Amino acid sequence: MPLTAPLRIGALIFPAFTALDLFGPLQALNLLSLAHPMNLSLISTTLDPISIDRTILDGVVHGMGANSSSPFFTEYILPTATLEDAPHDLDVIFVPGGSGTRNQAATQPHVDFIRDRVQNEPPKYLWTVCTGAALAARSGVLAGKNATTNKAAFNWVKTVEGADEVHWIAKARWVVDGNYWTSSGVSAGTDMILGWIEHEYGRNESERIRIGMEWNALDQTDDPFAEIYGLVDS
Ligand SMILES: *[C@@H]1O[C@H](CO)[C@@H](O)[C@H](O)[C@H]1NC(C)=O
Ligand SMILES: *[C@@H]1O[C@H](CO)[C@@H](O)[C@H](O)[C@H]1NC(C)=O
Ligand SMILES: *[C@@H]1O[C@H](CO)[C@@H](O)[C@H](O)[C@H]1NC(C)=O
Ligand SMILES: *[C@@H]1O[C@H](CO)[C@@H](O)[C@H](O)[C@H]1NC(C)=O
Repeated sequence: MPLTAPLRIGALIFPAFTALDLFGPLQALNLLSLAHPMNLSLISTTLDPISIDRTILDGVVHGMGANSSSPFFTEYILPTATLEDAPHDLDVIFVPGGSGTRNQAATQPHVDFIRDRVQNEPPKYLWTVCTGAALAARSGVLAGKNATTNKAAFNWVKTVEGADEVHWIAKARWVVDGNYWTSSGVSAGTDMILGWIEHEYGRNESERIRIGMEWNALDQTDDPFAEIYGLVDS
C-alpha cells in the first residue's frame, strides 16, 4: 500500500521517555520532510509539558530518577495532541522508550491507544525504539511477532504482560516483522529509521539524510550490545 501524502506520524510521549529514542529518528525525519509532505503529532495524555528522562509532575520528581544524583536534570517537550484527540488514520505510530515505560499506570493510556488504533484503524507501520517495545507488548499487538528491545532492559521487557507471546530477538540492531519495526536501545532507533527510509524511499534518500546528519550508521545485524549483556538467542 503506498503511503499517503502527507505522511501522518504520531509519536507517543510520556514522562521519562529517552530523548535520543525520539529525537534521533526525528532528526532523520525532519530532513526527510524537506522533500516529502509529512505531518507529525506528539501525543500524550494531556498537553502539559513532558519531562525527559525524569518523571516530574507538578514540580515533584517520581520514579527511577528520584534517587539519582540529579533528580531535576531534565528537558521538557510539548505534546501537540492528546491521546483522545490525536489525528486519525495515522500512517505510523512511533513509540520511544525510556525509564518511564516502567511506570505501568502512567503508560496504560498509551498502551490502550496502541491496542485501539491497531485494532480499529491500523497504521501502516508501528515503530518502537528501546523499551517502547514494552508498551507495544503490553498492548498485545506484538503477539506472534519477532521484535527486539534495549539490551540493558531486555530481561525486564520479557517480564511485562504480553511479552511471553513475542518472539524476542536478542542479537539485532533492529528487527522487521511485516509492518512492525522494533529497535534495540537508544541510538539504534536512528539506524532503524534510516533503514526504514531506505526501505520506503530508496537508498539514495537514506544516504542523503545519513550524510546530511553526519551519522555513522550500523547495519541491522550489527549488534555488539547483546553480547555485552550476555544475551544469546535460543
Ligand atoms: C497536516 O497538518 C496540517 C497543519 O496542521 C493540517 O492542516 C492538515 O490537515 C494535516 N493533514 C493531515 C492529512 O493530517
Ligand atoms: C528512593 O530511596 C528511598 C530511600 O532509600 C526509597 O524508600 C524509595 O523507594 C526510593 N524510590 C525509588 C523510586 O527508587
Ligand atoms: C522471525 O525470526 C526467525 C529467526 O529467529 C526467522 O526464522 C523468521 O523468518 C522471522 N519471521 C519473520 C516474519 O521475519
Ligand atoms: C541514485 O544516485 C545515483 C548516483 O547519484 C544515480 O546514478 C542513481 O540514478 C540514483 N538512483 C535513483 C533511484 O534515484
